[in-house]
Amino acid sequence: APELRSKITLGSRWPPSNSPIRSVQRYLERFHLTREKLQEVSERLRKDLIRGLGKHSHHKAPVKMLPTFVRATPDGTEKGDFLALDLGGTNFRVLHVRVMEEQQRVLKMDSQICAIPKEMMQGTGEQLFDHIAACLYDFLLSHNLERETLPLGFTFSFPCEQKEIDKSILIRWTKGFNCSGVEGEDVVKLLKEAIRRRGDYDIGSVAMVNDTVGTMMSCGFRDQSCEIGMIIGTGTNACYMEEMKNVKRVEGEAGRMCINTEWGGFGDDGSLRDIQTEFDVVVDEMSINPGVHTFEKMISGMYLGEIVRLLLVRLTEDGLLFGGRTSKALLTPEAFETKFISEIEEQDNGLENTQKVLSKFGLKWDTVDSCVVRLVCDAISSRSARLCGAALATLANRIRVNRRQERLKTTVGVDGTVYKKHPNFSEELRATVRLLAPKCDITFLVSEDGSGKGAAMVTAVAQRLARQSRLLEESDGETDDEEEEEEEDQ
Ligand code: GLC
Repeated sequence: APELRSKITLGSRWPPSNSPIRSVQRYLERFHLTREKLQEVSERLRKDLIRGLGKHSHHKAPVKMLPTFVRATPDGTEKGDFLALDLGGTNFRVLHVRVMEEQQRVLKMDSQICAIPKEMMQGTGEQLFDHIAACLYDFLLSHNLERETLPLGFTFSFPCEQKEIDKSILIRWTKGFNCSGVEGEDVVKLLKEAIRRRGDYDIGSVAMVNDTVGTMMSCGFRDQSCEIGMIIGTGTNACYMEEMKNVKRVEGEAGRMCINTEWGGFGDDGSLRDIQTEFDVVVDEMSINPGVHTFEKMISGMYLGEIVRLLLVRLTEDGLLFGGRTSKALLTPEAFETKFISEIEEQDNGLENTQKVLSKFGLKWDTVDSCVVRLVCDAISSRSARLCGAALATLANRIRVNRRQERLKTTVGVDGTVYKKHPNFSEELRATVRLLAPKCDITFLVSEDGSGKGAAMVTAVAQRLARQSRLLEESDGETDDEEEEEEEDQ
């Protein structure tokens, strides 16, 4: 594939203009983003971040920039036992997590996966929360925890307007969920009501966490300069530490707060029309939430496979693939999973994997077909990586300018199957960030289960801050020196 790719780059005289490969190339070019275009995209996002943060511009802003009420990253003194729930990725999970101060470690003690049937993803909210409460009870019972009242971190990976760490209103569902009666409601209240309806157990304080925030916080325990969290999995999104004085919708000027950007919504006002292809438009129109999360639909695992499938169908119909013959499987919406893209693009076994996938799809292929399929996957996954890179560069540049630093050294915690499983996604993403944020030195840290451990960390940090402010209140009136001693004593 690399040789073929270099031969069909723009401007080459090979192949001749009437060759079928030229026609393939014309389709693939639509997914190619030049450096100038990426720079433009990054600049548009920069302006949208400001719109999202603004008091008066927020309500119309496509990038929501949601305050998370996470005001500090871990300092290594956090500790305790926590429960965590994780909803919004591939699976719903319940976890029991222990944070150990002495060893600076977060231990995931146990976890359990609970399937959420597709009907439930689009049923009533009450059913969904009853199911969550039931899964939690099963877990507590099987771990002899049903009589304890542990604090709970709830990783709920959807856009929420957070009022406090334990009050979080769902703005809208994304990623295939569409339960009635939840949008506009406080998710913590819905969870607590479901637990109360059962009446057989209770939970302690709740902290609501977006998965990006969990990812940042779980990496933050290992590397205290981790100030960005990024997800490229079923959906895509990022959070970062913003200066409070720029967070116009929350009172207070001092310190920082983590902002959940919800960058998946970038382009929802039409600002990405110039780079959307006709295939992106179809994916959007066929989704359960047309017009919503435009950027995410060009990038994340829930949609990449479908973009590839649509392009393969088109190429076949144009007589450029498989002798012009499609198959029932290829014509089935969502049949082409994003994980196939990773398998097909594998360096060593890629060609073999491609042929396996094509046979599984009941297609009659030859070697040229399999090379073209690899090129298609490469074009679509590269665009995704570059777009993410451009967006990440925007955040890093913003942090650098915020702090008036000539160079910024920072760490990004990352999670998500697309980033972790695709053979050259991360490399392509990094190359783009280097190009667009040349004054930022970024370390990438792959998060180990940020949604579980991170949720526990957020809860632990919230408890530490509450403890500290209680201590400060108690020591009010004492001399400054005594106050300092108090803090050191902790
Ligand atoms: C979607 C959600 C967002 C989440 C992301 C990654 O974009 O809206 O909250 O962080 O998916 O899971």
